[in-house]
Amino acid sequence: MLVLGIETSCDETGVALYEGEAGLLAQTLYSQVAMHAEYGGVVPELASRDHIRKVLPLVRETLREGGRRVEDLDAVAYTAGPGLIGALMVGAGVGRSLAWSLGIPALGVHHMEAHLLAPLLEAEGPRPPFVALLVSGGHTQLVEVAGVGRYELLGESLDDAAGEAFDKTAKLLGLGYPGGPAVAREAVAGRRDRFRLPRPMTDRPGLDFSFSGLKTAVANTVRGLEPLAARDVADVAAAFQEAVVDTLVIKCRRALAATGSTALVLAGGVAANVELRTRLAAAVPEVFHAAPALCTDNGAMIAYAGYLRLAGGATEPLAIVTRARWPLTELPPA
Ligand code: KG4
Ligand code: ZN
Repeated sequence: MLVLGIETSCDETGVALYEGEAGLLAQTLYSQVAMHAEYGGVVPELASRDHIRKVLPLVRETLREGGRRVEDLDAVAYTAGPGLIGALMVGAGVGRSLAWSLGIPALGVHHMEAHLLAPLLEAEGPRPPFVALLVSGGHTQLVEVAGVGRYELLGESLDDAAGEAFDKTAKLLGLGYPGGPAVAREAVAGRRDRFRLPRPMTDRPGLDFSFSGLKTAVANTVRGLEPLAARDVADVAAAFQEAVVDTLVIKCRRALAATGSTALVLAGGVAANVELRTRLAAAVPEVFHAAPALCTDNGAMIAYAGYLRLAGGATEPLAIVTRARWPLTELPPA
């Protein structure tokens, strides 16, 4: 089965071709980062318009790269949510219309499920059961995974997501958007012990997270230092990253102990963070994650999640449905 995957939930247009036997055949990605950087964050209306400009050229390019024709497709998978509604509607409208014109099925994929399943694309990928830490710009969740669509939410952020905390810290440090990679780069040269920032909600039992207090602590530290020297920026970045990583490591260990699992799957944009990967690898028995390019938003994870769902017999009516909010636990088992 040959599946075309289309991702347009936020600021990257991603397209990929996944084939059941051969695996990932081709993928293309267009990042809108340069356009949004001017505004310090994603401007939803501009995002939608740019997806419209890019999605069809990328579909053509992906088919060419994969050596397939549009008539070879067996199904189309697109991101149906959660995400920016206008941006989602671009991929959903194009994906569903293309499938309809070809007389093949289309499927709306859950963006966080696609992140969660992306590490399974790797040759030595994990197999359920495992615990997944989903860390992206909009979500921070610990999920017990028994199989595709068999998810139990163990804990989640009560306020800001981990990626959001990285982005806000970057802004406070004058590092611009997107924040995660910029903070990680600065942190390499910084001293992680010059400032002591909180490890929110680690001093009490439970698996929920809260990152808004950490952001406030960073804001107060920055205020006390202004004007910031290059040294200060690096040291605050290192202290912040250390606080986030410590917090995530503590909660992951707790989640593994609570479920009796030994395998942890790290997924979502923040999973590209090298310090988080390194520290988790040392702290838990088995960690799986996708290559960095498959951790941040991409079309391959959508094609793959769509393939798994379609192979499991999923079907949908012709209506184009997109959801800005969509709890992972509402998904049916595959
Ligand atoms: O999964 P993703 O690409 O999009 C969403 O679904 O949100 O995640 C984007 C988030 C952003 O907050 C970005 O700053 C963060 O992932 N991120 C990182 C790194 N790369 C991306 N955070 C920390 N370190 C990184 N290397
Ligand atoms: Zn994402």
